[in-house]
Amino acid sequence: MKISAAEFIAAAATPGEIPRAHLPEIAVAGRSNVGKSSLINRLTGRRKLARTSQTPGCTRGLNFYALNDRLGLVDLPGYGWAKRSKQERDRWKTLVEHYLETRTTLAAVLILVDARRGAEEEEQMLAGYLGAAAIPCVWVLTKSDKLKRSELDARIRELAGFPGPRAAVATSAKTGRGVDDLWRCIEDLLAAAVTTKKSGTKTGRRRA
Ligand code: GTP
Ligand code: MG
Repeated sequence: MKISAAEFIAAAATPGEIPRAHLPEIAVAGRSNVGKSSLINRLTGRRKLARTSQTPGCTRGLNFYALNDRLGLVDLPGYGWAKRSKQERDRWKTLVEHYLETRTTLAAVLILVDARRGAEEEEQMLAGYLGAAAIPCVWVLTKSDKLKRSELDARIRELAGFPGPRAAVATSAKTGRGVDDLWRCIEDLLAAAVTTKKSGTKTGRRRA
């Protein structure tokens, strides 16, 4: 997709602050520091659309962006911060689950996985959760510039072995590798979401 307009719409730290849905949305999920904000910037060709940082957990709430007034991108707050209090982790869970379970315009979730670490318990749990909620998802390896081709191929094979996500795309926000492939994958997910809606396929999702 050629991005002629990319704008920040809103940040939501509580369910009540989530903006009204009007565009089909792709949510970007993954642990802190995996490269969610960097990938959004790379996908949109805007260096500073989403704030990135050296400090894990910098994106605290959900951040909503609109592209070409056609597609919404949502930067979900990173999970897996060991240093946070239980209260804060519970608040994260409530907020993210509320969004995932009630967002009628959610087309799919990209589950970002650091190419060096692969899918650990949290990533597999998220894939399982999305599968149970009938929310389409794909694996997106980040920081693929840090791995050799053979290592990356092994990671992709490993991801293909987990149930749930439909595909795995290797990307690098640093070099731009895989970004065109990811766009193609996003277009396919959007097209599939439209077809599902038209055919009225029951997804088992709670609709708000
Ligand atoms: P939180 O908002 O804290 O959850 O983090 P995030 O997932 O949004 O990560 P962010 O995009 O802020 O990136 C974290 C760090 O990883 C930054 O220092 C980025 O420069 C670095 N980074 C992100 N993507 C890549 C990549 O493709 N390659 C390399 N080498 N570094 C990357
Ligand atoms: Mg971020």
